[in-house]
Amino acid sequence: MVARALGSFGRRASVHAPLDGLARACRAVGCAVALPRFPSAGIYSDRRVARGQPPWSDHLGSVPGNLSVRAHGRGLMSDPVHHPFVSIRVRPARLELAQLRLWELGASGLEERDETTLVCEAASDQVVVIGAFSDEAAARHALKEIGEEYDAEIIYVPSQDWATEWRRGFSAQRIGKRLLLHPSWEAVQGEPDDVVLTIDPENAFGSGDHETTRLVLRLLDQWVAGGERVLDVGCGSGVLSIAALRLGAASAIAVDIDEDAVVVARRNAEINGVAERIEASARPLQDIDGAYDIVLANIETRVLVHMPEPLQGRLAAGGILILSGILRAETDELLAAYAPMRLAECVEEGEWCACLLRPAEP
Ligand SMILES: C[S@@+](CC[C@H](N)C(=O)[O-])C[C@H]1O[C@@H](n2cnc3c(N)ncnc32)[C@H](O)[C@@H]1O
Repeated sequence: MVARALGSFGRRASVHAPLDGLARACRAVGCAVALPRFPSAGIYSDRRVARGQPPWSDHLGSVPGNLSVRAHGRGLMSDPVHHPFVSIRVRPARLELAQLRLWELGASGLEERDETTLVCEAASDQVVVIGAFSDEAAARHALKEIGEEYDAEIIYVPSQDWATEWRRGFSAQRIGKRLLLHPSWEAVQGEPDDVVLTIDPENAFGSGDHETTRLVLRLLDQWVAGGERVLDVGCGSGVLSIAALRLGAASAIAVDIDEDAVVVARRNAEINGVAERIEASARPLQDIDGAYDIVLANIETRVLVHMPEPLQGRLAAGGILILSGILRAETDELLAAYAPMRLAECVEEGEWCACLLRPAEP
C-alpha cells in the first residue's frame, strides 16, 4: 500500500496540499508537494492547492451501513499507525463540490486520481478524490457526513512506513569527478580524492536523486575552483551549497521559502562540517545583500523566468549563474528571459537541463 500511495505522486500525479508524513515522503523523493508558501507548485506534479491546518472535529459518528471501510496495508484500521483518508469517487462535473465538502469537513490535504495520474483507480469518466484526515474520528465523521451524497469510503495507509519508505529510493551515487553523495543510513567507501557528502533530505527536496540537483552538482564539480562566495536560492536540503563548500567555496548563503527546508539544510551543513561557512535562512531574496561568485537556483522555469533581475543583480564581476529545474523544451524561454547573459554551458540528463550563464561580454 505504501508503494501505491507513494507511486501516485509522480510527475503527473495530482496533489492538493500537504498530507503530513506522506507529503514529506513525497517531497523527499522529488515531488515537491505544495506547502502554503510554495509558489512554484507544479514542478513535479500538478493541480495542487494549499491549505492550513483546520480545526478538527472530535465527533465520532458511526459509519453508515451502506459504506465500506477498507483498510490497506498491513494491520487493522484500529492500528494507531494507520493514517485515515476519505476517498470519494465522482464524475468530473462534481469534483469541485466533492473537494469543497472534504475541505469543509476538515481535510488537511487532497489528492486526485484519474486516468492522467500515475495511480489510476477511476473509470475514464470518474475521478477519485482522496482527503487526508488527522485521525480516525475526523475521517469517520467526514464519511458519515458525505456518505449519503457520494460513493465514499475510508482507506488507511500505514503512516509509520512513510517515515522510512522514502529512504528506499536513495542510495550512494557518484556525481561528476569528485563528488560522492550518500544518505547517512548507507555507508560508503570513497576514493582518497573523493569529496564525500552525507545528505539526508528529510522533508526537503535535494537528496541528489533528482536530475535537476545532479546537473547542478556536475557543474559545481567542474566550476568550483576554491574561495568562491555562493548564493543558493531554493536551497532545499542544502545539498548544492554544501557541495560547493566541500569542493572549496569559501562561504554560502542558502535561502528557501520553505522554513522546514532551511532547518534541514542547517542540519546537513552540520553533518558535513560546513555549518560555520553557511548561512541558511528563509530570508527573501530581496533582503540578501552582497555579490556572489556563484549564484545557484534550482527551482523551475516558470519561476526562474521571473527572477532574472534579482539573480543577475547578485552576481559579482566575472561570476556565474547556474539555473536548473528546466525541461529541455523550456531552454529557449529561459535563455530569452536571461538575455543578454550568455549561455556558457548546458548540461542535460533525461528531459532536464541546467544552464550556466555568464554576463554578456562588455
Ligand atoms: C527543486 S527544489 C531544489 C532543492 C535543492 N537546491 C536541490 O537542488 O536539490 C526547489 C526549492 O526551491 C524552493 N523555492 C521555490 N520557489 C522559491 C523562491 N521563489 N525563492 C526561494 N526558494 C524557492 C522550494 O521550497 C524548494 O525547496
